Amino acid sequence: MNKRDELIVGKAKTVYTTDDPDKMIMHFRNDTSAFDGEKIEQLDRKGMVNNRFNAFIMQKLEEAGVPTHFESILNDQESLVKRLKMLPIECVVRNIASGSLVRRLGVEDGLELNPPTFEFFLKNDDLHDPMINDYHIISFKWGTQEDIDAMKDLTFKVNDVLKKLFLDAGMLLVDYKLEFGHFKGKLYLGDEFSPDGCRLWDAETRKKLDKDRFRQGLGGVVEAYEEVAHRLGVELP
Ligand code: TYD
Repeated sequence: MNKRDELIVGKAKTVYTTDDPDKMIMHFRNDTSAFDGEKIEQLDRKGMVNNRFNAFIMQKLEEAGVPTHFESILNDQESLVKRLKMLPIECVVRNIASGSLVRRLGVEDGLELNPPTFEFFLKNDDLHDPMINDYHIISFKWGTQEDIDAMKDLTFKVNDVLKKLFLDAGMLLVDYKLEFGHFKGKLYLGDEFSPDGCRLWDAETRKKLDKDRFRQGLGGVVEAYEEVAHRLGVELP
């Protein structure tokens, strides 16, 4: 599949059109950013690790009945995906309180949430991705009630699959963010699933194995991502 034009240059990925109008190439760069792009660094091997990790997770989700845009891995840093029409919405499920939830509600970091909680955020860097609710999505026509129901169902279904997958490998899935889009009238999981967009803690020690290592300047960022991949049995060169 030939790459054509640069379509989107995001903070960590570049998306290209291809000869097929229904397919795109996602290139995972080594760029790592936090705080709406205020902190950016190049981390060796990160693009490759995230590309392989994402492919592994997307395949697991697909097997479990979650429709995803993922088609195939093309090379170390690139994968072929369906060209979705993305909703400008981020879906977050939290099994354990951390990050913005703790800052916003003043609850204890590490508090287990039973049942897990769900939040929508608007994808808008200038506004720092504000939290929104179902009514905002309908009133501003960012999506339909059907989209809302499907996003909630699929995001919780992902939780059932991945919470167990990570726990079996000795890790706690603290929280994660998903994005969805339409392709030929159906809603698919798009974007990526990698330690850039979730929180993963060692189940015993609660050591952070995700992008919080970068946000908080803890070091060993890619080493932690590689450890997560290794524990799950993702093959890395
Ligand atoms: P959250 O705690 O709301 O924000 P922050 O990362 O600023 O502390 O994030 C919850 C989870 O969702 C966390 O694993 C990071 C992920 N996430 C993103 O990857 N991008 C986003 O734009 C948002 C809002 C969350």
